[in-house]
Amino acid sequence: MGGDATAHTPLTRSAHPPLPMPRPQRITVPEFTAFKKGGRKISMLTAYDFPTARLVDEAGVEGILVGDSLGMVVQGRENTLPVTLDEMIYHAEMVGRAVDRALVVVDMPFPSYHLGTHKAIEAAGRILKESRAQAVKLEGGADQAGVIQALTAAGIPVMAHCGLGPQSVHQLGGYRVQRNRDQLMNDAHAAADAGAFAMVLECVPSSLAEEITAAVTIPTIGIGAGPACDGQVLVVNDLLGLTTGHVPRFVKPQADLKSEITRAVKAFGEEVRSGEFPGDEHGYA
Ligand code: KIV
Repeated sequence: MGGDATAHTPLTRSAHPPLPMPRPQRITVPEFTAFKKGGRKISMLTAYDFPTARLVDEAGVEGILVGDSLGMVVQGRENTLPVTLDEMIYHAEMVGRAVDRALVVVDMPFPSYHLGTHKAIEAAGRILKESRAQAVKLEGGADQAGVIQALTAAGIPVMAHCGLGPQSVHQLGGYRVQRNRDQLMNDAHAAADAGAFAMVLECVPSSLAEEITAAVTIPTIGIGAGPACDGQVLVVNDLLGLTTGHVPRFVKPQADLKSEITRAVKAFGEEVRSGEFPGDEHGYA
């Protein structure tokens, strides 16, 4: 780590440590839900670590999701299934410390909410207690209405996730667009009626997402669900051009950081080998 070699600790210490600086107010769950009524579109990105979460927050999104996509994006795994509750909390805690303005939502990992409402409250409670997150997200609609209701009754805000649920990849036979209108409508209504404050719609035809968005009073946050949703969420690595494998059609990258990182690392290696780095200005007298 860098640091000023001449820096030293003060010799005197106040008897009273300074009061912590008040942090700016984060967007609250009710404010997030109210964006729909106010006609304000919602932008949301994933983040998995402190520096990324800080940058994303300062750039001004409304929501930050600690997604279990970290299984693939950070851990290099094949899908989201191996991610544990402890791992989600490990990442959520870093993100929670970084974020001052956006609403922070954390994914409940498989199968932490499939083991009964008591265990679901225990898992979601740990996420909120240990990470400064304000809400959890879980995959499901009608099938998870009881859990959404129980968490909400316990004071734990829930974002539902309907359409393609990546945790069900084996049951679905792959990551496919979900087109069953009746089931999707039923899921959306059930999640909203159970108390969800918002819902992700993943890989749903644009016209169906538009119908669902008009049918429910809570915000729909689309990913591969077209422009009519109340908001949009993307995996931050996809947005920044950092993804090494397949990038889905619904992503519009806004940067090419992969090339930029490769360029910078190559330049460093070449300058070390040629003796150009470090120069006199990088050393100490
Ligand atoms: O895990 C995740 O990142 C997600 C979003 C892609 C919606 O669930």
